[in-house]
Amino acid sequence: MSDLTPTEAAAELERLAAEIARHDRAYHEHDAPEITDAEYDALRARNNALEASFPDLVRPDSPNRRVGATAASGFAKAAHGAPMLSLDNAFNAEDFSGFIDRARRFLGLPVEAPLALVGEPKIDGLSVSLTYENGQLTRAATRGDGMVGEDVTANIRTLNSVPHTLAGPAPAHIEIRGEVFMTKADFLALNTAQEEAGDKIFANPRNAAAGSLRQLDATITAGRPLSMFAYAMGQASARPAATHSAWLEQLRAWGFAVNPLSRLLATPEEAPAFHADIAAARATLPYDIDGVVYKIDDLALQSRLGFVGRAPRWAVAWKFPAEQATTVVEDIAVQVGRTGALTPLAHLRPVNVGGVLVARATLHNEDEIARLGVRVGDTVVIQRAGDVIPQVVQVVETAPRGPAAWQPLTHCPVCQSLAIRAPGEVVRRCTGGLTCRAQVEERLIHFASRGAFDIEGLGEKTVREFHADGLIASPADIFRLPAREAEIATREGWGALSARNLTAAIEARRTIALARLIFSLGIRRIGEQNARLLARHYGTYENWATQMEQAVIIGSEARSDLGSITGIGGAIADELTAFFAEQHNRETLAELRAELRTIEPATAPAAANGALAGKIVVFTGTLTTMTRPEAKALAESLGARVTDSVSKKTDLVVLGADAGSKAKKAAELGVRTVSEQEWRDMAGA
Ligand code: IVH
Repeated sequence: MSDLTPTEAAAELERLAAEIARHDRAYHEHDAPEITDAEYDALRARNNALEASFPDLVRPDSPNRRVGATAASGFAKAAHGAPMLSLDNAFNAEDFSGFIDRARRFLGLPVEAPLALVGEPKIDGLSVSLTYENGQLTRAATRGDGMVGEDVTANIRTLNSVPHTLAGPAPAHIEIRGEVFMTKADFLALNTAQEEAGDKIFANPRNAAAGSLRQLDATITAGRPLSMFAYAMGQASARPAATHSAWLEQLRAWGFAVNPLSRLLATPEEAPAFHADIAAARATLPYDIDGVVYKIDDLALQSRLGFVGRAPRWAVAWKFPAEQATTVVEDIAVQVGRTGALTPLAHLRPVNVGGVLVARATLHNEDEIARLGVRVGDTVVIQRAGDVIPQVVQVVETAPRGPAAWQPLTHCPVCQSLAIRAPGEVVRRCTGGLTCRAQVEERLIHFASRGAFDIEGLGEKTVREFHADGLIASPADIFRLPAREAEIATREGWGALSARNLTAAIEARRTIALARLIFSLGIRRIGEQNARLLARHYGTYENWATQMEQAVIIGSEARSDLGSITGIGGAIADELTAFFAEQHNRETLAELRAELRTIEPATAPAAANGALAGKIVVFTGTLTTMTRPEAKALAESLGARVTDSVSKKTDLVVLGADAGSKAKKAAELGVRTVSEQEWRDMAGA
């Protein structure tokens, strides 16, 4: 060790910091360690020995200075026992009835069957998950991406509404979920104090709550007036109640604050009146709410209903109408999106809408401009609902009419390529593809963004600057930035430390889950959910890419296989194959691939090992103990694929009552058939 020169030691410490950070992420975030514990310990030991010999060279991002997996945010990562999901929204009574109808249909309940619900105000705060072991609070985590959050245990312990010990008997292990919030009055008082002290002003109570909870120094959190309403259960070793309403009572008994306005509704028909009551009370409540959450009361029905995508089938968030304001359109500009879509944007005289200053609103597309009849100078009503981009709702006062109404652009405002509107589509698109700087830039922003590669320190502004200055032109270039760390350090606004942190953040992302990689490419219609479906179906990067290249040929086996994936429709398949049909895209992807390691999709343990994993199943005839959608969802949760028709590839046909031609076909092809009861046994239902 003493043989090393300081320069050599510094280089090795740097390499170790990046490498250890990468293994931390693989271990904590992806549950997919690439090296043994002993190898990991050896890296740490080497790092410690070097730091001991060269104390002056200890890095700010030294593995010993970081907690757990995060260098940049300063919080350790905390994996949730059960995912923290979001909720589907309803915006009116019709959407709400749609939710009830779907649930009843899924459960096979007649329309008139009573279905008790609990209505709870939807608190506009941030959700947290609290783990109790033998009644003691052992960990508190933010939602994060739903699978992994940040460990904020020390901060949460400062809240009065969170018991450190559950009052009364409790399961050995339980995750309790709730919403942390700040009251409107406390928010105003905090902002006044912040302003006096010359500190950051918060935009709204929710931001103030989030900013106050996510303090590295928990004594700051302790000085902030935060509260929490408990409302849900995550992973638990035993189920402490049979209904949601009883569960809320249990939470109260353990010492949590439960929203006093929550109410058990005997039937869904009671919901609209309850909704109106809460909406009327909204303005007088001491805290912000943005709707009412309705949850099916019976927990056994909840577990039968399960989840679709990231939201439960047993709950819905019926949102209050959006908040509106009136202002003047100062200009109409056109923005070019990641997939070339040209979106007209209204530049507005800034106006306060529900506590947020709004200076731009989307006009969606040219038809919408025509429908609204909006021109520069007009006074318009704008609205914002939740986190969506503010939009122009109507023109209330027209400016004296100038020469002409706004006209759609015939060419891309950035690359001047032809802009065309395909028949049947509302969106006009730039045809420049990757020759259009705007499209390239938006794709790079998407690539580095949170749901995608999530590269800390490479936010929208930085990507735009690096792209403009020629540091990055394609995703693979991002992984070449570490080699240019010294150059980056000399840029305006940068220094040795921030450049080094960026290197570490990039290195930490060289290992990536296949689904994230697919999502990151920004292919039209391939959102997170479709990316997950693809990753699960194809298993490995190589298999996926090869199959996609073959699927470009219409009529190929790869193409029909792609079309058979439940949830991947024809339009999605077309976008994928259009992407792979372009040589430029294939090259860009191959270059990127060379920089990365991918993690194959994690299948649920039951799915990975169970008898149904990877099997193709067909249901036919009338099932008597569960509905068709329920059977399909169950099969899919066990790793099977459900298709409609019987072929040689089919592994199993489940015969309900009065099964007809499909049963015959199965017999002809020698495909295994089982009764409904046998199927239930196989599925463990
Ligand atoms: S239940 C699986 N209940 O809304 C369902 N969520 O849009 C778990 N929220 O992430 C959530 N008040 O942060 C539930 N009474 C309430 C809520 C509530 C606010 C938030 C929560 C969640 C988001 C979903």
